[in-house]
Amino acid sequence: MSTAGRNYWIAPSILSADFARLGAEVDSVLAAGADLIHFDVMDNHYVPNLTIGPLVCEALRRYGVTAPIDVHLMVKPVDRLVTDFARAGATWISFHPEASEHVDRTIGLIRELGCRPGLVLNPATPLHCLDHTLEQLDLVLLMSVNPGFGGQAFIPSTLAKIRAVRERIDASGREVRLEVDGGIKTTNIGAIAAAGADTFVAGSAIFGATDYAAVLRSMRVAIAEGGV
Ligand code: DX5
Ligand code: ZN
Repeated sequence: MSTAGRNYWIAPSILSADFARLGAEVDSVLAAGADLIHFDVMDNHYVPNLTIGPLVCEALRRYGVTAPIDVHLMVKPVDRLVTDFARAGATWISFHPEASEHVDRTIGLIRELGCRPGLVLNPATPLHCLDHTLEQLDLVLLMSVNPGFGGQAFIPSTLAKIRAVRERIDASGREVRLEVDGGIKTTNIGAIAAAGADTFVAGSAIFGATDYAAVLRSMRVAIAEGGV
């Protein structure tokens, strides 16, 4: 698939940022050309790790961050935190269907609160989760690692899943972002874009480098070349 003409977004995951200097890290990555800030919320229950909550999102807004904040909820239950994150200034809120008792209700709640809803599919979560939900969503987030940690290797079978979701989104006729999360680097982002993704989460590949702008530039070149 050609990558020409699509509007690509790169979403650095602050999971790999220096938390002691979080405001400055977010400023730097935005100045380096990031399109939105990916905010990983883990609860030591749905996933085996514990990270940051709505207070940190609110603190970034108060600090002056105006870029979209892409909240990825890896928590169970989901709904209480949706309300807290909407109040804290989230732009996008995505959740895992396995973590919500009532997926349609959670999607509706996110939208009612003025945020843009996304559904996250783990590597082994089947695409039928998009039956009866895709028409309510603004974002599908495909996990290309098992959720819980940064720095894992990209699972190659995700490429076929991206192609299948791209077909479903195109067939729906709606504008739905197709985001991929986990193990994305300058070396594989072209192939991920060519498979049909338009939004790329990258944590360790960006925050593990010294020059964020150089990584973002290389990623954009690789996206334009489409993995060839
Ligand atoms: C994993 C998180 C990812 C993670 C990506 O559970 O959802 O957003 O931070 O990190 P990298 O890019 O290092 O795989
Ligand atoms: Zn994430």
